[in-house]
Amino acid sequence: MGATALVLAAGEGTRMKSALPKVAHRILGVPMVAYVVRAAEEAGCDRVVTVTGHGAETVEALVPACECVRQDRQLGTGHAVMCAREALADATGSLVVLSGDSPLIRPETIAALIEARERAGAAVALLTARMPDPTGYGRIVRADTGAVEGIVEQKDCTREQCAIDEVNTGTYCFDAAVLFEHLDRLDTDNAQGEFYLTDMVALFADEGLAVASVTVGDPLETLGVNSRVQLAEAARVMQRRINERHMLAGVTMVDPDLVWIGPDVELARDCELLPMTFLLGRTVVGEGAVIGPSARVTDSVVGDGAVVDSSILLEAEVGPGATVGPVAYLRPGAVLAARSKAGACVEIKNTTVGEGSKVPHLSYIGDATIGEHVNVGAGTITCNYDGVRKHRTVIEDGAFIGSDTMLVAPLTIGAGAVTAAASAITKDVAPGSLAIERSEQREVTGWAERRRSDGAP
Ligand code: UD1
Ligand code: CA
Repeated sequence: MGATALVLAAGEGTRMKSALPKVAHRILGVPMVAYVVRAAEEAGCDRVVTVTGHGAETVEALVPACECVRQDRQLGTGHAVMCAREALADATGSLVVLSGDSPLIRPETIAALIEARERAGAAVALLTARMPDPTGYGRIVRADTGAVEGIVEQKDCTREQCAIDEVNTGTYCFDAAVLFEHLDRLDTDNAQGEFYLTDMVALFADEGLAVASVTVGDPLETLGVNSRVQLAEAARVMQRRINERHMLAGVTMVDPDLVWIGPDVELARDCELLPMTFLLGRTVVGEGAVIGPSARVTDSVVGDGAVVDSSILLEAEVGPGATVGPVAYLRPGAVLAARSKAGACVEIKNTTVGEGSKVPHLSYIGDATIGEHVNVGAGTITCNYDGVRKHRTVIEDGAFIGSDTMLVAPLTIGAGAVTAAASAITKDVAPGSLAIERSEQREVTGWAERRRSDGAP
């Protein structure tokens, strides 16, 4: 029987000083609460319920696949669990409770906690950590035998308890039935006047129910984010963890501190990521591709052996062996086929560029279909927008577009046709034709010579 998870995410997070609820803040493009929900799922929890409250609608939209229950007033972590009681009425066995502000928790750790509780048949298993500086955390109080007697919050600690360096990480695995049987016994008789979930531990211990504990190997994993400083710390830890995973799988990064990769990005081996590269969203990069320096690639596909230099890609697709940049901007729907090129200062959107075709310099190509082996000269612009509607430009295989051509859509340039440089093309061009639209050049013989002898200095 799989475990159930409950993610507490109703708090405001006043120390973030933000209009956004704390758990909605992002790390590498993904909201904190989504990391926690995913860790629970990957640990094998077959049902995940999130408690929302502060900014509930915002938070619920960030975990669309998750069941959510509301805690309208935030009366403490114990109260948050009370709010989930009805939703969890049929939950039996292990109930994992996680904090939405602890995004670094690993699935393996959650799984180990579940196992520890089940093996011991305990009422609860606590995840604890040894912190060099335990300030702010609840302390784990143990008897001489080593048995856990309770958790005391920082604000309720005696002097001696303050010195305890074993802390509560806010991650627990309860026996669901035992938890709900005892939950009504919580009170608000403490320094913060809240229902503390942590008080369950002393209630269990007093009744002689078994309390198990697991100490996390790396305390950073349980870092709770309460401020922007801790948000940056957590982002750094996540960045290192993700980059290490990719480097061990065969990805080269000359300076991994300057490469930021979202958790859902897929990278094939032998790709190389140069400094100041951001790969975000559902980006997929093929074998041997080189990205950067200075690239931002979001929700895009970069094919095997492609090169993306100093460019921005949003929902774009770059085929195998294609080259992008320096300083190209590929917007949604830009699809570059194999061995094609979007060169320097080129913007492309909602356009397919056929195999081997090139848009090498200073162009805007929007709403176009470009065939194979087309050359688009420097400074070409598809005039796709008439102020009301967008229109398509079709450039068939093997066409040659002269430099500085204005292609006024809707328009079709036939296969193998040529447009002369500096032409504004407003009518379809038949396959194989030359279209030229330019006023004739005039030449005034001797003009320059005369100007000089006119007494110009
Ligand atoms: C809590 C623990 C503390 C532990 C620490 C670890 C309690 C009483 N204390 O303290 O022992 O060392 O976490 O980080 O549990 N939340 C709600 N509803 C509420 C209150 C909180 O959903 O009414 C959520 C918050 O959004 C947050 C989580 O519960 O995700 C923890 O709450 P927080 O106020 O940050 O607890 P701490 O003071 O850090
Ligand atoms: Ca906290």
